[in-house]
Amino acid sequence: MDKVYQAENALELRDAMKRFKKKRNEYSTALKSVSITVKRGEVVGILGPNGSGKSTLVRVISTLIIPDGGDVRVFDIDAVRHPKEVQRHINRVSVEASFFKKMSSMENLIYGAKLYGVTDRESKPKIREILGSIGFDLNRVNEPMEHLSRGMQQKIALARALLTSPMLMLLDEPTTGLDPRSKKDVQALIRGIRHTHDASILLCTHDMDEAEELCDRIGIMLDGDIIALDTPHALKQRYQQDGQAPNLEEVFMAATGASMEDIEAKKLEEEEKKAGVK
Ligand SMILES: Nc1ncnc2c1ncn2[C@@H]1O[C@H](COP(=O)(O)OP(=O)(O)O)[C@@H](O)[C@H]1O
Ligand SMILES: [Mg+2]
Repeated sequence: MDKVYQAENALELRDAMKRFKKKRNEYSTALKSVSITVKRGEVVGILGPNGSGKSTLVRVISTLIIPDGGDVRVFDIDAVRHPKEVQRHINRVSVEASFFKKMSSMENLIYGAKLYGVTDRESKPKIREILGSIGFDLNRVNEPMEHLSRGMQQKIALARALLTSPMLMLLDEPTTGLDPRSKKDVQALIRGIRHTHDASILLCTHDMDEAEELCDRIGIMLDGDIIALDTPHALKQRYQQDGQAPNLEEVFMAATGASMEDIEAKKLEEEEKKAGVK
């Protein structure tokens, strides 16, 4: 375990590649050659339109899928060679939090902690403390998860990640589809986590404001490639025009040649066209 505590980086990805077979001799490349590092305690955002490869990237890191090439290391552990060990140090929170919906949040959290080798006796007080600190109504910890709003479920998903450390949190669009209020709450929670825990975070989003507010560095992802990766400040300097600092939306347009909305609309159109041809 020493190795984990000594590791300088939470995540190191070098030339990660992944392609999916579509038909015979036809492939779609979801990750071209992605290199990215998340230092311990750092929050790195991946900003990209639908279909750019964000979830594939997260699934490769969480060992759910095996890359076709490249190097993936989590706290200096090779994710391809030692997936079980890597799984102990990552926590993935995706759009739909995965829970036993008939069980309560307390039961789900105890179960989650157990998967990481934390006993009930240790986890129970810690769970209460964490839920209290994120403003979760403790009277509701024994209610079935399915009675809770999606925003509350996302909070529980994040709380689950705090029961073990050190931890690399992989947040895959954690606020997509939430109402504005829950979205703000979940964002505040993510901001809080980095101040109170030794957590390192990879945050995938297509929300510009979310990326800018929460991330130390932002990678812009397009068609399976990270085409720019830097602090928001440095990105703005690089893409400034006429001495004017652009906002992140303008940075995105300068880097990719189009707005997020246009890219997504075009992709949808292409998919519809393809579906029509068949
Ligand atoms: N299991 C899969 N089988 C085939 N193609 C896939 C699979 N998962 C993702 N893809 C394709 O890989 C590309 C990237 O998808 P994804 O990683 O889900 O992007 P994002 O999360 O940014 O929306 C898309 O073209 C998608 O259709
Ligand atoms: Mg996705």
